[in-house]
Amino acid sequence: MNNFSFYSPTYFVFGKERENEAGALVKRFGGKRVLIHYGGGSVVKSGLLERVKNSLSNADISFVELGGVVPNPRSGLVYKGIELCKKENVDFILAVGGGSAIDSAKAIAIGALYDGDFWDFFSGKKKIDKALPVATILTLTAAGSEGSNGTVITHEDGMLKRSAGSNLIRPVFSILNPELTCTLPPYQTAAGAADMMAHVMERYFTNTKDVEITDRLCEAIMLTIKNETPKALKNPYDYEARANLMWAGTLAHNDICGVGREQDWSSHQIEHELSGLYDVTHGAGLAVIFPAWMKYVVKHDVLRFAQFAVRVWGCEMDFQNPEATAYQGIECFEQFMKSIGMPVRFAEIGAKAEDIPLLVEKLALKSTLGNFVKLTPEDVRKIYELAV
Ligand code: NZQ
Ligand code: ZN
Repeated sequence: MNNFSFYSPTYFVFGKERENEAGALVKRFGGKRVLIHYGGGSVVKSGLLERVKNSLSNADISFVELGGVVPNPRSGLVYKGIELCKKENVDFILAVGGGSAIDSAKAIAIGALYDGDFWDFFSGKKKIDKALPVATILTLTAAGSEGSNGTVITHEDGMLKRSAGSNLIRPVFSILNPELTCTLPPYQTAAGAADMMAHVMERYFTNTKDVEITDRLCEAIMLTIKNETPKALKNPYDYEARANLMWAGTLAHNDICGVGREQDWSSHQIEHELSGLYDVTHGAGLAVIFPAWMKYVVKHDVLRFAQFAVRVWGCEMDFQNPEATAYQGIECFEQFMKSIGMPVRFAEIGAKAEDIPLLVEKLALKSTLGNFVKLTPEDVRKIYELAV
């Protein structure tokens, strides 16, 4: 196991009706003037926004609001949010929604305390050194942004999807009420499962040896996603399935299962180009890219893939031919994605083989990508081709 430092300061508030504690929590974490930030209207329709506003008012917290975050959140609204925060002296940002609303809130939190262009933090020009506190009320189990140190924004100029990260933008608190996820359509539920699974796999496929504890944590989370997602799809109001998935989504990405081991993250970056170019749902893009990546790198460590097959998918180990077991695990993963209604090939998400050179070019690789196998632009091209 490698040396590590782990700092995950988010205060999680989990369970039924806990969103009604938003006002008291904002107060506890020092917020006096809040920006409530949300998406395209699901939180208005469900009545959640109204309940949150009441909770803030009851705690004598003043607020302004900004809705309209779209999936694969855009820079335009971030600029607008930054301006609003500066004009209204906002000192605390409360995101209500999924990963997109949360990521947009995090970007606003960075930009609100910076005089230059917030994109500097996403283009790698500047390191995040301060940010307004961000808190979340999560309505979608997927991105893990409610506990993560990252934010992903798409700049409208060139549709570049880029990320920025710092412990300074880990939410100070996150309210997780599984009931709020019961209104999710099947496609979003499944795409969320694909994203959570991917967050674990980016960490699971590692070259670091002797990481039994984090291997087992990863496997527990993957097994939970595998077992609970079909239940939530069958009965969207299955509270226990939603609850298990919700906590799995947070644990998949707050890095508790990634510490002490080298992580990969190439599939995510390869996917971000698909989201950027075609505006595809992030989880759906991952369901297409991950099987292709696995097939491309499996020979690098057949035994790790065989372990994945046996421990997560229940395959029987073929000791004479571990490679066969390894491939069986990949097949099981792909079949699982199909069974929950996820796409697994380019055409199913409207991606085109002729765009592959453009996708590789937009990735703008300066050296190599990922760690499990260090991928050159030529490798990335081949992975996109395997996904066609
Ligand atoms: O906008 P509204 O009207 O709220 O509708 C949303 C949106 O259309 C809807 N939705 C959310 N909660 C709902 C609901 N519909 C009904 N009932 C509910 N309870 O679902 C749609 C998708 O929402 P979005 O927030 O875009 O989804 P998700 O949480 O999957 O976030 C995706 C974004 O997160 C980024 C992705 O790249 C993508 O841009 N990621 C962020 C990460 C991070 N910050 O750590 C890591 C991830 O790897 C990921 O890259
Ligand atoms: Zn993801």
